[in-house]
Amino acid sequence: SKPNVVITRRIPEAGLARVQEVCQVRQWDSDDPIPRETLLEWVRGIDGLYCLLTERIDEELLDAAGSNLRVVSTLSVGYDHIDVAACRRRNIAVGNTPGVLTETTADLAVALLLATARRIPEAIDAIRRGEWTTWKPMWMAGQDVHGSTVGIVGLGRIGRAVARRLRGFNCRILYHDVRPRPEVADELGATYVDMDTLLAECDFITLHPRLNASTYHLFDAEKFRKMKKTAILINTSRGPVVDQEALYQALVNGEILAAGLDVTEPEPLPVDHPLLQLPNCVVLPHIASASVATRTKMALIAAENLIAGVQGKPLPYPVEDES
Ligand code: GLV
Ligand code: GLV
Repeated sequence: SKPNVVITRRIPEAGLARVQEVCQVRQWDSDDPIPRETLLEWVRGIDGLYCLLTERIDEELLDAAGSNLRVVSTLSVGYDHIDVAACRRRNIAVGNTPGVLTETTADLAVALLLATARRIPEAIDAIRRGEWTTWKPMWMAGQDVHGSTVGIVGLGRIGRAVARRLRGFNCRILYHDVRPRPEVADELGATYVDMDTLLAECDFITLHPRLNASTYHLFDAEKFRKMKKTAILINTSRGPVVDQEALYQALVNGEILAAGLDVTEPEPLPVDHPLLQLPNCVVLPHIASASVATRTKMALIAAENLIAGVQGKPLPYPVEDES
């Protein structure tokens, strides 16, 4: 008989069809998340779990699933929602979708950087409110991206793809990471600096680390104080990498100029959240990898990870160990 798997959401059709070729599927066929209680019930006895970043895969869930579970496959590159160590202890393989979303995510990171620097959402809002009365010399004047100094925190695949794009804007690229990465940084013309230098010298800082214990609230009040007053922060990684309360204060008090966020804490961000009231904060609803082609590829990779896992084969894309 076919292995039993749960898919926790409506996913691109191609991904579902591929899983159904091999597995008996129970799917939460909705665009809204599966309730936790339902998920805990559904996972009982399954062989494989195909999840999203909205599901917390922890000891409680693994206990509920039981000893048949061989693989957790997430439709995301990030896996901070999965207790990977707990999965390893139980010999459960964990797969993610790296690589395919790198370029799409970097496109959005640069779009967000440009939109924030040049105040594009604010300008669109102004037109809609009837405030475009005449051409004014300093109206909606923003910051130049070309020729600026950009700091990349986390020079992984996505950080590097952002650096490559910004070279086209003639930017000076600095980076900080857990260790220097000359093997990939040199060809990008990216220079390794310590965090304090990055904070002091950059006009833009863009965040691309993984979320883990050492990056939780990495950008806090102290970091904002050390940034230029004209600096702009861009986050397309995970919301909790930034201490949002400290960011709000820094934006209100003029310690930094603006922020562009594709990720927040929590998600979704409540519509009455104070950050959404600020003209110098551009917030997007976690859409960096959201192109039709890329989300479809991600759904297929997650399907292949799931299938390999339930068949006891090595996953094509196992999550990497922390380095
Ligand atoms: C999206 O944030 C992802 O991790 O793929
Ligand atoms: C994402 O997984 C990255 O390595 O940037």
